[in-house]
Amino acid sequence: MTTDHETASVKAAFEKHFGAAPDVVAYSPGRVNLLGEHTDYNGGFVLPMALRGLGVSIALGKGDKPGVIEAYSDTFDQTEVRKITDSREGRWSDYLLGCLKAVAEAEVAATGLRVALETTLPMGAGLSSSAALEVVSIKAALALYGREMSSVDVAVKARAVENDFVGMPCGIMDQFASSVGDPGVAMFLNTHTLAYELVETSPDYAFVIIASGVSHQLTEGGEDGYATRVAECQAACKALSIDMISDLGVDDLGRIKDLPSPLDRRVRHVVTDNQRVLDGVVALRDGDMVRFGELMVDSHRSQKEDYQITVAETDALVEACLSYGALGARQTGGGWGGSVVALVESGAVEAFSQRVLADFAKTSILAVT
Ligand code: GLA
Repeated sequence: MTTDHETASVKAAFEKHFGAAPDVVAYSPGRVNLLGEHTDYNGGFVLPMALRGLGVSIALGKGDKPGVIEAYSDTFDQTEVRKITDSREGRWSDYLLGCLKAVAEAEVAATGLRVALETTLPMGAGLSSSAALEVVSIKAALALYGREMSSVDVAVKARAVENDFVGMPCGIMDQFASSVGDPGVAMFLNTHTLAYELVETSPDYAFVIIASGVSHQLTEGGEDGYATRVAECQAACKALSIDMISDLGVDDLGRIKDLPSPLDRRVRHVVTDNQRVLDGVVALRDGDMVRFGELMVDSHRSQKEDYQITVAETDALVEACLSYGALGARQTGGGWGGSVVALVESGAVEAFSQRVLADFAKTSILAVT
């Protein structure tokens, strides 16, 4: 539920920029993923946690130019003006535009729209800034035009916008965690059926989220990136005559010997990380945080060696976190940098964080949850 506290600032920004009060305000959180990376577009399990206090807030008001969207972002200190009939242009306002087209094209064509946006989520930190922007845009537009949609359906719509309009072939984890999740509580989600359960984590331990200072940009093409991994998984499914990699369990791993490299390693990562989510949920329910930490370490190694989506900076940071006493640590999110999440005893968080900041000049502590 959105609180006044989360939207007071964006409301003020709207008033200052447009000289009138907005009609609606809304807020959606980012997420950290605890286990299960790149499993979501393979029909697998994930274990994200929506974040407290890190998210995107929006203020909307009807405009006076039919079909025209004037979007002001304090983050970019910029106004972008788009038409509801526009196509993707590779700008930040594409996310907003795609969402408005998906749920309120006719209404925006009739009324025009003024938008102010604020984010406390750093871009490129692997904490779902794009998904939070999509979810909040859809929820606010529905509220403005008096329409209802379930949080699950909002997540499904938001993912479709990112896949089809923005052109990023992501899974549903981020949009689902932002739209449906409860900040500070882990969410065990089956991305194939969309069945989910909230799972409490031990109050004696905290997850410390550390921005590595290396930014990723998953929508950028490049030789090797997110879309390459999606394509590799599709190729592996074809070669194995399966619909999705989550059709395989750890007992089926013998089958990967028939695959050419690197498809064998890609499948091994997805299958084992899927299993680590299941094992992690058991560990959380048993209050066995030592075991949970071990699973995080294994997950990082699998991301590094089998999925090859880590970078030297996040590898070094994970190693250092473990040497400073973390029970587990891993790169979180889409990959190629972003953030590391470390599991630390609550009483040790302060000293742990000081050591990270002292030894890694480019890092910052984004959240402790
Ligand atoms: C990005 C995508 C998600 C998911 C993660 C990796 O955050 O948006 O769908 O694939 O990467 O787990």
